[in-house]
Amino acid sequence: MAGDKPNENPTSSKSELVRGMAHEEPQQALSDPIALASRLQHLSLSAQAIHADDFLNSHPSVAPPMHVATTFRYNDDPDKLSSWKNINPNNPYDSHVYSRDSGPNTTRLEAVLTSILRNPTLTYSSGLAAFHAMLVYLNPKRIAIGGGYHGCHGVIKVLSKLTGLQAVDLDCADTELAPGDVIHVETPVNPTGEARDLAVYADKARRTGAVLTVDATFAPPPLADPFAWGADAVMHSGTKYFGGHSDMLCGTLSVRDAAWVAGLRAERLVLGSVMGSLEGWLGVRSVRTLEVRVRKQSADAERLVQWLVARAAEEGSAVAEIVAEVEHASVQMRRLEEEKGKGAAEWMRRQMPGGFGPVFAFYTKDPDDARRLPSKLALFHHATSLGGVESLIEWRAMTDAGVDKRLLRVSVGIEGWEDLRDDLEQAFKALAKEKKERAGK
Ligand SMILES: Cc1ncc(COP(=O)(O)O)c(C=O)c1O
Repeated sequence: MAGDKPNENPTSSKSELVRGMAHEEPQQALSDPIALASRLQHLSLSAQAIHADDFLNSHPSVAPPMHVATTFRYNDDPDKLSSWKNINPNNPYDSHVYSRDSGPNTTRLEAVLTSILRNPTLTYSSGLAAFHAMLVYLNPKRIAIGGGYHGCHGVIKVLSKLTGLQAVDLDCADTELAPGDVIHVETPVNPTGEARDLAVYADKARRTGAVLTVDATFAPPPLADPFAWGADAVMHSGTKYFGGHSDMLCGTLSVRDAAWVAGLRAERLVLGSVMGSLEGWLGVRSVRTLEVRVRKQSADAERLVQWLVARAAEEGSAVAEIVAEVEHASVQMRRLEEEKGKGAAEWMRRQMPGGFGPVFAFYTKDPDDARRLPSKLALFHHATSLGGVESLIEWRAMTDAGVDKRLLRVSVGIEGWEDLRDDLEQAFKALAKEKKERAGK
């Protein structure tokens, strides 16, 4: 969050910057940076993404300035010197000492994220740094975790070495967990894009006294809000949708209890896992367009999934020849409804009201096809990661040694979905033709 709570109120000339906008007056007392960052939560997601940091403006430039300073001049008046407080007379909320603690660009990004994630939010140098910070702060004896992004399991392995942290299965018996342990739910899950029912794990956390943490990287706003389903902390790899342009690393950690912020900040200061200033600036530039990007990406992913499922069922088509199975929350929902009736997937509609996410996966029948398909595509880059405006496909075995060798993960960007569909179609046809030629048919 923004700098330490200043011991002075903003000057009256700044009051227009902190008043609510549009038609409503803010509900919160505007006395601290979290309340200031949250004062526009009655507005639309994009209005918040574009204006939640306006209270940090101290220059008339519409685009925020980029500050690269690592250190900030103290007050010339010796009587005003106070340890770790360095109030900026031009803007008390934009006060900094040293950029391993806070800096202007990352403070702006944290203000916007605090608003749109609806809880106090800190940024970190990467998603895994945020996950690490969360576990260091909570210091549980056990963590219940299922399959998902392999890097988080790598962090747990490192912590196990240091603290004896023990990983147990996400769906373990209640008796395996005790108060202070962590239940960590990734939803939707990397790499298949399938969802997990958060209410089930919130109940388990209540029964056992565990803390419920959620990795919501695959469903940023406006797709889902894990806090609405009982999460105590929500992390994101901000490298993905908050960054949105495949050009910055970022992690975010939002917490239900604002009292955690001071401790998390103190630990971040000594661990040194802050974002760089350039990345903070890029993050603000990018998060402004989060809603339009993510809504389109998610809707287009669903269109592509529907097309792929239909084509895979068409006997004789190149897609049917190559694809065995398509995985995505939208497919999971249809499967659940077919198998267990209409109500069985109601939790999915409630948990993901904004769409089922821009990432899906499919299995090929032959692992060699999964290796060869990406190089037949023109619009999809063959690369790891997700969340950018550029569509990506990855033969997942490239970076995840534990994954099925037949799996391809697709991250849908913002190109026209028909262009992406046509690119996939021509790639499947080219691969099917090449296979026939190789087989000498
Ligand atoms: C679900 C999930 N969580 C965390 C991470 C780690 O994020 P970062 O690469 O920003 O450290 C990733 C990265 O792919 C991810 O997909």
